[in-house]
Amino acid sequence: MLPVRYTQGPHSMNDRVLRALRGEVVDRTPVWFMRQAGRYLPEYQKVRSRVGFLELCNDSGLACEVTCQPVDRFALDAAIVFSDILVVLEAIGRTVEFEGGQGPRVPEPVRSASDVASLVRPDVAEALPVAPETIRLFRKVRPDTPILGFAGAPFTLLCYLVDGGSSRHWLHTKQMIYSAPDLAGRLLDLLADVVGDYLQLQIDAGAAAVQLFDTWAGVLAPADYLRWALPSVQRALARVKRAPRIYYTRDCAAFLDWLPETGADAIGLDWRVEIGEARRRLGTIPVQGNLDPVALFAPPAEIRRRVRAILDAAGSTGHVFNLGHGVLPGTPIEGVEAMIDEVRRFRI
Ligand code: CP3
Repeated sequence: MLPVRYTQGPHSMNDRVLRALRGEVVDRTPVWFMRQAGRYLPEYQKVRSRVGFLELCNDSGLACEVTCQPVDRFALDAAIVFSDILVVLEAIGRTVEFEGGQGPRVPEPVRSASDVASLVRPDVAEALPVAPETIRLFRKVRPDTPILGFAGAPFTLLCYLVDGGSSRHWLHTKQMIYSAPDLAGRLLDLLADVVGDYLQLQIDAGAAAVQLFDTWAGVLAPADYLRWALPSVQRALARVKRAPRIYYTRDCAAFLDWLPETGADAIGLDWRVEIGEARRRLGTIPVQGNLDPVALFAPPAEIRRRVRAILDAAGSTGHVFNLGHGVLPGTPIEGVEAMIDEVRRFRI
């Protein structure tokens, strides 16, 4: 069979990411990367010197401007809407603070039955209008680049909601699932329903695909992953229709064999798993990943060698190139350029 050649007409949308997420033949592996709009970009820092992070997340015009920045600089194959996973916690009734340099903080964490009773089940269209509006704006100003929507996975959101901020051991969250499983179950059900509806809202606004970030599920013992994280992801994704759904977990190696059971259409991999082995274990499901973000601090030749190794191992179909986690503040732009250029050179 001859490979289908991808050609881009004057007004057609770049569909490499969508094709790769469906396991279809592409002319080359598509590339975007997690946290591609952010502090490593001088143009982002310029905007941030004028406005706070939450203000930026709450203003669709500014969020759209920042969403465009990495796409315009690097001609990436997809944008990701600028926002944060923690906006969902505000929608269910908890304020989130980002200032202070210690990472995000939830000043009133949810730990008791009465805390849980104080939360609300929002109408997502009313409570979370900004990311959908940013997606609509982006579709108007950059019609040839697909835009991805996203949300935090229920367990990862539970971690911030219960521990009240970033944590080394997630003591309060684990304490809740071990000691008050009924409360944890109710919270995860609420988060799953809200997150599922929120992803669908972003698709309805024009997102070409959506990604669920389960950054902290890897802190769970396998039996707890199966009991808590996996069913809540299934519940969230079951509410999402009509666009590919990517599920990303950091520290996914121990759970690889179960990831197709999430119901996701593609799996995002962190850098600690060899991508060829992951593909063999995952079966036919497309994958995304998985360069170590710290590799971008290496000399360009070393970055190219590592990118090429991932591309060779992943194969030419069903792979979206990405980092294994978000790009780090301070990452040299030349490193990002070397990574993207090496992906573009890859042909099988
Ligand atoms: O990928 C993108 O470009 C889209 C925007 C995006 C942000 N956060 C912007 C952001 C996305 C997809 C996220 C996801 C997110 N947020 C996750 C899951 C992915 C991951 O990285 O693990 C998590 C756990 C969060 C929560 C969060 N938000 C943390 C822990 C922090 C502080 C640490 C940090 O990286 O700064 C944030 C703040 C945040 N979210 C920033 C950005 C650009 C930095 C804020 C600033 O400008 O000062």
